[in-house]
Amino acid sequence: MRVFATWKHKSRNWLHKIMERYVVTGGAGFIGSALVRALLNQGGSQVAVIDNFLSGKRSNLEGLDGALEVHDADIRDFDAMSRMVKGAAAVFHLAAIPSVPRSIAQPVPSHEVNIDGTFTLLRACAEAKAGRVVYAASSSAYGDTEVLPKVESMMPRPKSPYAAQKLMGEYYAGVFADCFGLPGVSLRFFNVYGPRQDPLSPYSGVISIFMRCLIERRSPTIHGDGEQSRDFTFVEDVAALCIKASQAPGVSGKVINAGNGNRYTLNQVWQTLNKIEGVSIAAEYGQPRPGDVRDSQADTTLARTLLGHQPEFRLEEGLRRTLAWYRETST
Ligand SMILES: NC(=O)c1ccc[n+]([C@@H]2O[C@H](COP(=O)([O-])OP(=O)(O)OC[C@H]3O[C@@H](n4cnc5c(N)ncnc54)[C@H](O)[C@@H]3O)[C@@H](O)[C@H]2O)c1
Repeated sequence: MRVFATWKHKSRNWLHKIMERYVVTGGAGFIGSALVRALLNQGGSQVAVIDNFLSGKRSNLEGLDGALEVHDADIRDFDAMSRMVKGAAAVFHLAAIPSVPRSIAQPVPSHEVNIDGTFTLLRACAEAKAGRVVYAASSSAYGDTEVLPKVESMMPRPKSPYAAQKLMGEYYAGVFADCFGLPGVSLRFFNVYGPRQDPLSPYSGVISIFMRCLIERRSPTIHGDGEQSRDFTFVEDVAALCIKASQAPGVSGKVINAGNGNRYTLNQVWQTLNKIEGVSIAAEYGQPRPGDVRDSQADTTLARTLLGHQPEFRLEEGLRRTLAWYRETST
């Protein structure tokens, strides 16, 4: 394990004592790094990132100012996790192999990280008596349940190994709360997009792929007819919700949707991007992907009532901000 520390206030030990320590697994990833930024921006926070850099990048954490430790470690390593979560006010568990098609192509590594890794991390948190765990669950757990929007009380119907693994993580978070006294809350993220989402992997999120195509003036290939719909959620709204979930009273053991409450088809997203950019590039269409659900939209009642959540970013504004970031960083 290597540790990279950027303690800005190392000499001010008294300050550390009154600062809250937060752990973010997967903190070098797309959503994790946005959460790390949000935690550091709120002030009074020490943040420890745990990441094995499988898909995460050091560059995602560049330019961060504050009390940040970065641990190159694997969530399946119980001893390392036990040391690192000790004294944490909250542990945000985002580390995962987060892809439906990858879990079908390579089910073993995704099972080992998403289920065994989550179990190991929870066990370490319970034994170290860490604070509340906020678990990054997934809307994929709903599968193709026909009712929209998706409400947390629905029976889950996972359609892929990834969806089943993320659901198992929720169950374990609940069981650790009930049986081992580890407070935990699961947030079901709905198609998150925003700056730092990697567009280069074959398993990349659709909006990051659209961004790259738009900048390079190419047609994207959409799997299926493009009329499948998603509740696209801007990454800063998700980070804000994670922080609220770590603080709100009475939510331990709960599963809460983390979405916008809207739904847009892939065709609509591509058209909106064309409009923002003032171009007219037709999409191409390919075979639907196995394991993909047709429609997804969050019922946000629980997030509003239990966490006081109100998403700040509508789709067009989120797309503009995301596009600005891709433009700035593309060479
Ligand atoms: N992006 C979405 O739309 C979405 C939707 C639902 C749920 N989620 C969940 O949100 C979380 C973050 O996803 P993301 O989109 O930021 O993906 P990401 O790939 O950018 O982040 C995952 C991070 O976990 C790290 N990681 C993987 N295996 C690890 C291991 N064994 N030990 C330590 N670190 C490890 C990776 O290096 C990476 O930094 C995941 O748990 C994912 O399942 C994401």
